[in-house]
Amino acid sequence: MNKVYDLRSDTFTLPDEGMRQAIYRAEVGDDVYHEDPTVNRLEELAADMLGKKHAVFVSSGSMGNLIGLCVNCGRGNEVLCAAGSHIVHHEISSAAIIAQVMPIQINAPGGILKPSMLEGKVKPRGVYDMGATAMIEVENTIGGNPYPLQTLCDLRAFADGHGLKIHMDGARLFNAALAEEVSVRDLAYFADDVTVCLSKGLGAPAGSILASDSDSFEFHARRMKKMLGGGMRQTGFLAAAGIYALENNIPKLVADHANAQVLARALADVPWASINPDKVRTNIILFDGVGIDNENLAQQLTEAGLLCLTDGGKVRMVTSLNLSSADAAQAAELIRAFRPVGGNDGR
Ligand SMILES: Cc1ncc(COP(=O)(O)O)c(C=O)c1O
Repeated sequence: MNKVYDLRSDTFTLPDEGMRQAIYRAEVGDDVYHEDPTVNRLEELAADMLGKKHAVFVSSGSMGNLIGLCVNCGRGNEVLCAAGSHIVHHEISSAAIIAQVMPIQINAPGGILKPSMLEGKVKPRGVYDMGATAMIEVENTIGGNPYPLQTLCDLRAFADGHGLKIHMDGARLFNAALAEEVSVRDLAYFADDVTVCLSKGLGAPAGSILASDSDSFEFHARRMKKMLGGGMRQTGFLAAAGIYALENNIPKLVADHANAQVLARALADVPWASINPDKVRTNIILFDGVGIDNENLAQQLTEAGLLCLTDGGKVRMVTSLNLSSADAAQAAELIRAFRPVGGNDGR
């Protein structure tokens, strides 16, 4: 049987032997009572890495985003976010249903919001017509694009000038930091609250961090976590995987980004794909089919052993711990040899 390359998402990573040992050996307690020493250790480590006073271990990036919206945006208020944001398109409308906030989507090239795009979009609290704007939501990376530090600095100044909070969906914040050659601490600095996923490129089986400097945010975040069913008792087993991920897997993102370049450059060489590999900055590769629609192309690539999905109408491949550098080289060869039925074959 031909080898299969799983490029669907960095969420498909599996714990390696070291992580499994860390899970096995974890010291645990009841986290709802704050008595799980491993969860407490993870929260201290993550808060320190992100340069925030508090970190709360939550079940997922979706839960972190939802709590951020509930606590820092508030019911009936508007959140400004880039069109295509995860909170709008991939979280089962929890922003509307549970947080009861109104996402206002802004068209932004590459998903990167800038203050000039938000001018005139901030609504004051009034008696008639509309809800007030309370928050800017920044997804970093978004579609694999990292925010430049200066843009975050400008957004912070804009937010402060208009009395807005910033929630950062940093599901892939470590990828963003690597691409921008800054620390996650530098990036998190501009947000009132920030989520980071441990279960994506960092390779843990579950869990995210939600961090903030505010005592009041932490208090309400912990209450919301429990309210949403996130009080999972002996979660030190998962926290141990998170600690292992933070201590061992951050440097491995370098290979993920390099492997994404290998695949992007192969895609740039074939007549049936349209991509600018210079625009691939992290581990997410988005491209269009040429002479073939993207759903059909993703299906045919998957059948050929290059497992991929579509996202926002584009074909998406994601590199992760699932793909070694040797695998990336082989997958690139497969891409170069592949000719989709119906696609441009260069003749
Ligand atoms: C940008 C972004 N934010 C948030 C999430 C949600 O994370 P989770 O799957 O842990 O709920 C994801 C998941 O893919 C994501 O890509």
